[in-house]
Formats: sequence, C-alpha cells, structure tokens
Amino acid sequence: MATVPPTTIGVVGAGTMGRGIVQLFVQAGHTVYCHDAQPGAATKAIEHVDGMLARAVEKGRMAAADHERARHRLKACSRLADLADCELVIEAIVEDLAVKRALFRELEGLLGEQAMLASNTSSLTVAEIASACQRPERVAGLHFFNPVPLMKVAEVIAAVRTAPAVVRRLSELTEGAGHRAVVAADQPGFLINHAGRGLYTEGLRIVEERVATPAEVDDVLREALGFRMGPFELLDLTGLDVSSRVMASIYEQFQQEPRFRPSSLVPPRVAAGLFGRKSGEGWYRYVDGQPQRPP
Ligand code: NAI
Repeated sequence: MATVPPTTIGVVGAGTMGRGIVQLFVQAGHTVYCHDAQPGAATKAIEHVDGMLARAVEKGRMAAADHERARHRLKACSRLADLADCELVIEAIVEDLAVKRALFRELEGLLGEQAMLASNTSSLTVAEIASACQRPERVAGLHFFNPVPLMKVAEVIAAVRTAPAVVRRLSELTEGAGHRAVVAADQPGFLINHAGRGLYTEGLRIVEERVATPAEVDDVLREALGFRMGPFELLDLTGLDVSSRVMASIYEQFQQEPRFRPSSLVPPRVAAGLFGRKSGEGWYRYVDGQPQRPP
C-alpha cells in the first residue's frame, strides 16, 4: 500500500456508505470527522466503526495499539461547521440532486481555499452537483462500493471542470487506503452503474415475466456464471430505497432508453418498506442479518 501522509477528511452522511468510508480512511491513518443531519447518527456511526476495528483486533488483523490510536482520530460532529479544517469532504447523503447541491454550496462556504469536495453519488451527474459551487474545479465524484472496506476499488469521477490535480489527489488518497482508483468520465452511471445496469434490469424483467423467482435468478448467476452475488442479493445489500433512485436517475439520463426502464415491481416494494437488509426484509427475509432461503 502506498503511504500517504495523514490528513483530515470529513464524511457527511453516516449511513451505510458513510460508515464504510469513515472506517476506510481512519484505518489508513487519517483523522476523520463525521457529520449527519439526523441527530445522534454520526455518533452511532463512529461507535459502529469502533466496533468494526475492535473486531479486527480480535481477529488479529489490527494491533490493539493501532485501534487505540485510531479511536482518537475519529470524531462525530454535530455541526457541519466542525468540518471546516478538512482537506477533503466526502458526501454520502441521500441520492437527491437538490439536497446534494444545497450541501455542497454550504460546504464551500465553510471550507478552506484548497479543500476538495467529493460526492459518493451512484448516478447523479457530478457536474450538476459541482455547478452549485463557485469553484467547481475542486469538486469530483469518489464512488465507493458496499461494503466499503471490503470492496477494494473506487471510481474517481472527473467532471468537466474538475482540476486534474484534484483527480490525482483523490486517486492518491484512495490508493493510499488500499483501494484501486479507477478514473471514469462523468457520464450516466459512470462505469459500474452503466456496466452493471443489465444485471439488475434483466434480472427484474425475468421475475416480472415469471420466468423464475429472485432466488432462482441469484442461484443461477452465482453458480453458473461465477458472480459473487446475484442481482436480488445485491439489491437487498444496497437497499431498494437507494437503488430505486439510481434506476430512475439512470433511465432519465439515458433519455428513457427502454433497456434501462425501471421495473414496475420496485415502487410498491419501496412504498411497503421492503428495502432489504437494512429493514429486515427485501427480496429475502433476514433473521439475525442472515438471508432466509425461500422453501
Ligand atoms: P443511507 O440512507 O444509508 O445514508 C444516508 C445518510 O445521509 C442518512 O444517515 C441521512 O440521515 C443522511 N443525510 C441525508 N441528508 C443529509 C444532509 N442534507 N446532510 C447530512 N446528512 C444527511 O444511504 P447510503 O446507502 O449510505 O447512500 C449514500 C449515498 O451513497 C447515495 O448517494 C447513494 O446513491 C450512494 N451509494 C450507495 C451505495 C449502497 O450500496 N448503498 C453504493 C454506492 C453509492
């Protein structure tokens, strides 16, 4: 792993992705400030990360002294203004363009002249987020995958106005944390959510057309094609609340191209709260975090 001198990184949004990003960068030696709009969420995220590090110590993958040092570099912030000294702030909040733009505008007013801003957006156009800022050249996409510490690759999205030095620095920090950085253009779905679309849309279509059940689709793709997870297992891991926004956004960005049409199976399930692992039921039911196979 390339060594990168420690810096201070802010993470806004302490949900599934924010927690993983906090863990990744604190493990790499950086000081990480975490903020969430929901009171108490950042503290819960820090406790979660601390628990993950404790587990790494138990399993012999981290020295107890390193865990102790990492604890002192983790900070939950109740105010966004507490992130003012960060060299980089990574946003991992709700996938909503207007909400992200408002946050970036506010962040730009707080951060130093040299600070960088990155969005973990899955599907929104980074240039549209960046254009909320007076200096869009310091804004880029930095798209991690779930679970962040284990999925050892990230997309660095260079928007039209992103400065090459920002792309280089984000790649350096990502690689310094042990993840491969792949630079992708600011096009719909970037690389992963363009290439991976077929997996979800065709999987959903197969179920819509009653060719097979979700578990059968997952089994065949895992066993016959060697995927680590099938599309329905992945949708449950991501959260259908998050994925449904990504599906809609990519469909619109591809000018409503029929092959990206979101499935009619999705909206009723989102309305019913069948998000996946996070809500205890999605395409599968979860007991103690473990998916239950249908009979
Ligand atoms: P999540 O729903 O688990 O967490 C989002 C967090 O952001 C919540 O704690 C919420 O309280 C907070 N939040 C919302 N608005 C806020 C604001 N204005 N200021 C501060 N905090 C705010 O969502 P998740 O899954 O972590 O996704 C976050 C982002 O990462 C989205 O853009 C999503 O598309 C992207 N993403 C998600 C992946 C996944 O597998 N879940 C994978 C890669 C990217």
